[in-house]
Amino acid sequence: MSIIKDAAQAVMKKAVQLAPDGWMPNGRPDPLMTHKHGLIGAPVSRLDGALKVSGAARFAAEFPLEDMAYAAVLYSTIAKGRIASIDTTAAEAAPGVVLVMTWRNAPRMKAPPLFGTASKAAAGDTVPVMQDERVHWNGQPMAVVLASSQEQADHAKRLIRMSYEAEPAMTSFAAARAEGAEPAEFMGEKLQLAIGDAEAALAAAPFKIDQAYTTPRHNHNAIEPHAATVAWDGDSLRIHDASQCVVHTAWSIGQVFGIDEAQVHVTSPYVGGGFGGKTVWQHQILGAAASRLAGRPVRIALSREGVFRIVGGRGLTEQRVALAADADGTFKAIIHTGTVAMTPHNAMPEPFIVGTRSAYASETFKLDVEVVRLDTIATTFMRAPGEAVGTFALESAIDELADQIGIDPVELRIRNEPERDPTTGVAFSQRDIVAAWRAGAARFGWDKRGRPGARREGEWLIGLGCATATYPYYRMPGGAARITLTRDGQARIEIAAHEMGMGTATVHTQVAAERLGLAMEQVSVTYGDSSLPGVVLAGGSQQTASIGASVMAAQHVLVAELLKLAGNDSPLAGLKPDEVGGVDAGLASLDEPSRHESYASILSRAGRDSVVAEGQAPKPLETEHWSMHSHGAVFCEARVNAVTGETRISRFLGSFDCGRILNAKTATSQFRGGIIMGLGLALMEEAQFDERNGRITNASLAEYHVPVHGDVPPIEVIWTDIPDPHAPMGARGIGEIGITGTGAAVANAVFNATGTRVRTLPITPEKLL
Ligand code: MOS
Repeated sequence: MSIIKDAAQAVMKKAVQLAPDGWMPNGRPDPLMTHKHGLIGAPVSRLDGALKVSGAARFAAEFPLEDMAYAAVLYSTIAKGRIASIDTTAAEAAPGVVLVMTWRNAPRMKAPPLFGTASKAAAGDTVPVMQDERVHWNGQPMAVVLASSQEQADHAKRLIRMSYEAEPAMTSFAAARAEGAEPAEFMGEKLQLAIGDAEAALAAAPFKIDQAYTTPRHNHNAIEPHAATVAWDGDSLRIHDASQCVVHTAWSIGQVFGIDEAQVHVTSPYVGGGFGGKTVWQHQILGAAASRLAGRPVRIALSREGVFRIVGGRGLTEQRVALAADADGTFKAIIHTGTVAMTPHNAMPEPFIVGTRSAYASETFKLDVEVVRLDTIATTFMRAPGEAVGTFALESAIDELADQIGIDPVELRIRNEPERDPTTGVAFSQRDIVAAWRAGAARFGWDKRGRPGARREGEWLIGLGCATATYPYYRMPGGAARITLTRDGQARIEIAAHEMGMGTATVHTQVAAERLGLAMEQVSVTYGDSSLPGVVLAGGSQQTASIGASVMAAQHVLVAELLKLAGNDSPLAGLKPDEVGGVDAGLASLDEPSRHESYASILSRAGRDSVVAEGQAPKPLETEHWSMHSHGAVFCEARVNAVTGETRISRFLGSFDCGRILNAKTATSQFRGGIIMGLGLALMEEAQFDERNGRITNASLAEYHVPVHGDVPPIEVIWTDIPDPHAPMGARGIGEIGITGTGAAVANAVFNATGTRVRTLPITPEKLL
């Protein structure tokens, strides 16, 4: 059966690849793409900025509900085994305590549906929440205390006595690998690919690099720790969440409690960063279960440690990159293989080869990710899963190869620029990465780079490095939006999307205003609510494309309805929806702009106060017809202290080719944020893991280091602004690409400064002494 299904899917995929461009969604470019002026690209400040800085924006843990109880979570201290005994007597007698929930009294619930197993499944792991005495990872929630205040709950939690019977657990990566790894899949897609005989090409080539690169486990540390404020009303559940997937969350939590998704109302108007971590984890389920048990609303706000215990992170990787080239630098082989870890209760192997598939031309390829399973907290999505660490290895190896051949690393990359996608053979939708390289190199002063170790100022060795940044364009199915246009010329866009700090609400107000021919003040975007239209994930850097396609579809329905209402007495009479656009608070013929009627006029002649239109985005077939990727070239200047081994980044520049940029200000911030996260990945981020017991030992920001202001140099961001004709609005995603390439750019700059090649992240001082 699955052979037939696989064959049918392969045929469909081929058909989509070969079909005429015009049959694809976005086969005809979005007319908005050509709007170079107006609101598209304008550096509009965040519309929610004042609310946030004044404290008026309410986050998930800030909703005060009547008679609310506060939750504290007790975490397991063994990696695998069972609870042998529980004594909650002292905790229950402590001041303010409402109840203590353990597996013995928790409501019966189904296992959380794992992300990717259904269209709206959003859970990070499949372990049933407090349903039995089994322990699956060190840090798994074992008990929840509800009390009248957070302090009382935290105090009572310490009075719980719990003992365990530990069983042998697999917590060592080396030991697991010795037992054998298996081929990894990522979201149903194989992570193995071979074109030609790459090993033979490697053996035969005059220039070659064959090296191992390792990256550690990373944990999510958004500025807002995960939280949910929940209340039951009969069998209906209200969740104030911090979420990048409100509709998925409503469905998934509904599955757990055996209720319809419509009975779960999830809102999340403000989110203090998501990065792939703000999906469904045990805390929302624990909060809802405890609330049901207590018959009271509950706030469950994870401590920083709680996020390390409950929410998965980026898995570690051990990668091999082998490159073969001719004397002129032409790639003969790209080999990128290695092993990663995940757990028995999730399915997220860090897919480090995904960026390698489309990055460079080569005669042969061998790509392979193998996975082992460890008894630990789940691995999960974390900003550019795959590319963030995969580009560290690949782009370091390219720097090594350039050094060996004696060719400039920028030129080596440009020399291997592919004309079509090198592993699928399909055309790129738009790729001007060479322009990004040239502009970036000129702006950064790349020509001033010297030989390794050549530049010194006192104790400081100074070097320059560069790397390619890359992230795919995705658009997930299920996008939909509603537009309500009123006679006074106000438009309300409603879509179940998310604002996690990247400027979504602002950008889509700009875009919708431009599309409808209204001023920004006349447009509002309502989002962050599971009862709104659309299944939209703020992930995969695809939310903007998803919203864009949804709003276009809704506008198409709106225009058709307005033309019908306008009738034959309008200057628009006889025009089809495709022939008109939103101009000057009304519709106008695209060919003859003088044929115009205002929305107010159309509606008042029709005797209507408003028109409501809802549209569904087309299936995202464009991603199979074209090879669609955001691109970038990143440049780093590093200073390494010859005495202490300390690395400081003194300059950084990102030159991006991501299609049309919709808001210069929020886009710059988003690129910068990704780059800053990449500096953390390069120099400091590492979840310290005790391999004896599978426990993360640095579960706080005091010990798990992320960049602070003092670590971040001026970061300049430029872009090509060449629209992608096959993406809505001409824009590809920019949310994740900033972190990609950055690790390698730093490592390559450190090499240029010191002559020392560090292949193990993070680049801490002892590795340079
Ligand atoms: Mo991102 S890791 O797809 O939220």
